[in-house]
Amino acid sequence: MADLIYSVVLYPIIYIWPAYVANGAPVIFGRGPALDLGRMFRGKPVFGKHKTIIGLIAGILSGMVMAAVESAFLPYMLLAGIAMALGTHFGDLLGSFLKRQLGFKEGRPFLLFDQYFFFIFALLFALPFGHMPSIYGLVFLVMLTGVLHKLTNMGAHKAKLKDVPW
Ligand code: CTP
Ligand code: MG
Repeated sequence: MADLIYSVVLYPIIYIWPAYVANGAPVIFGRGPALDLGRMFRGKPVFGKHKTIIGLIAGILSGMVMAAVESAFLPYMLLAGIAMALGTHFGDLLGSFLKRQLGFKEGRPFLLFDQYFFFIFALLFALPFGHMPSIYGLVFLVMLTGVLHKLTNMGAHKAKLKDVPW
């Protein structure tokens, strides 16, 4: 039983943790000029005002710090975690780029894009480094990511870090 809980719940959380931190840190630290510096693509903002340079740097760095911390007990998490920090922001920016092209204003909710772009690309980037959670672990993470997205956005809104509760 303990083995099962470890492999389906605990290990997947440890594994994805650098991605969660990389995704969350910009909400706290993000400010200042937009990454796209206001540039447009096909008449729409490239990423939009909510994707900031400082948010990107803070997100990637904090994910990397988590990777380094976890590598003290799981050495492969150094590279897997760094890959996830980068993949998180690749997916996050790709999601925003597509939202802008589809005409969604910054911060407007777009189901599945908002929750899962960072998650999918974090895992894809980490794939070459092995040690992925089992398929049951990944299913658990899909559910957890959906729930956490909702709760953390509501929390960030209450803490006045975000204008909207999603
Ligand atoms: N953020 C940032 N820089 C980044 C990514 C995020 O500063 N590179 C900050 C912004 O304050 C942003 C918040 O983190 O509002 C939440 O990010 P996210 O939910 O991904 O952005 P949205 O506001 O929903 O914007 P979008 O419509 O582009 O997804
Ligand atoms: Mg959002």
